[in-house]
Amino acid sequence: MPRIAYVNGLYTPLRDAAVSIEDRGYLFADAVYEVWSVFDGRLGDLDGHLNRLERSLRELSIDMPMPRESLLVVLNEVVRRNRIREGMVYLQVSRGVAPRDHVFPGPDVKPAVVITAKPVDREAAARKAEAGVRAITVPDIRWGRCDIKTVGLLPNVLAKQQAKEQGAAEVIFVDRDGFVSEGGSTNVYIVGADNIIRTRPLTANILPGVTRLNLIRVAEREGFEIREEAFTVDQLKAAREVFVTAATSLVLPVVAVDDTPIGNGAPGMVASTLRELYIDRARATAGV
Ligand code: PDD
Repeated sequence: MPRIAYVNGLYTPLRDAAVSIEDRGYLFADAVYEVWSVFDGRLGDLDGHLNRLERSLRELSIDMPMPRESLLVVLNEVVRRNRIREGMVYLQVSRGVAPRDHVFPGPDVKPAVVITAKPVDREAAARKAEAGVRAITVPDIRWGRCDIKTVGLLPNVLAKQQAKEQGAAEVIFVDRDGFVSEGGSTNVYIVGADNIIRTRPLTANILPGVTRLNLIRVAEREGFEIREEAFTVDQLKAAREVFVTAATSLVLPVVAVDDTPIGNGAPGMVASTLRELYIDRARATAGV
């Protein structure tokens, strides 16, 4: 498999690809990112991620590095050059390269763009989803604008490492009031004894997941009742089912939280059904 990165206008072998040590993404985490799933060589939930990218940039007063149509050409070209059929695309846009100074650089400094892609083993992912994963809860110590998809992910990194050390695949952040905010790199859902799916409403404290947006549409279309309602850790642990969503893991059942098994300790029907429906829909709509 070739590994080619797009860096500020050039397609470069990954081993030679580099950014400046004065890139503000590197110095200040002054950068945003997006992750797309690739299905059969086409970008999944294409518009949703482009819309969120534009929003993240706008919130931080960073210009779109190029028109949306041009960006789409480059994203597809990175997929093509890496010969990705099933995989992921990562895009990062920083405020640009300038001598270190907290305040924004002048208008002559243009945003810096990096795009990479990698293959994903869908069969291994399916096996993981069939088994379900463990998660641990951790206090949400992140900043007040988690709705912006910035590369400032240190709390997520530390929490996910802690999860790994405890044999878990994901962390679930819990806010100061005892409500679940989201996962370390996912949105979180519960299915209660009433069979209603609940996920936290969008606020500045969670990322508006693109998978979340489309999962809600799929669930409603299929007749599931889904409510945007906050829930506590107690509700989480007492739930019949728990699952998480992201462009990376799609829909992934959680079968234990801390040391508490969820339901009967195996993936439930709601999560498994929604995973299939979601993937079918994402494949069918990829590239548009
Ligand atoms: N993470 N919440 C957080 C904190 C995330 O980092 C992510 C995605 C999500 C789900 O968003 P989406 O459905 O749009 O992928 C929710 C990406 C995949 C990552 O950091 O790798």
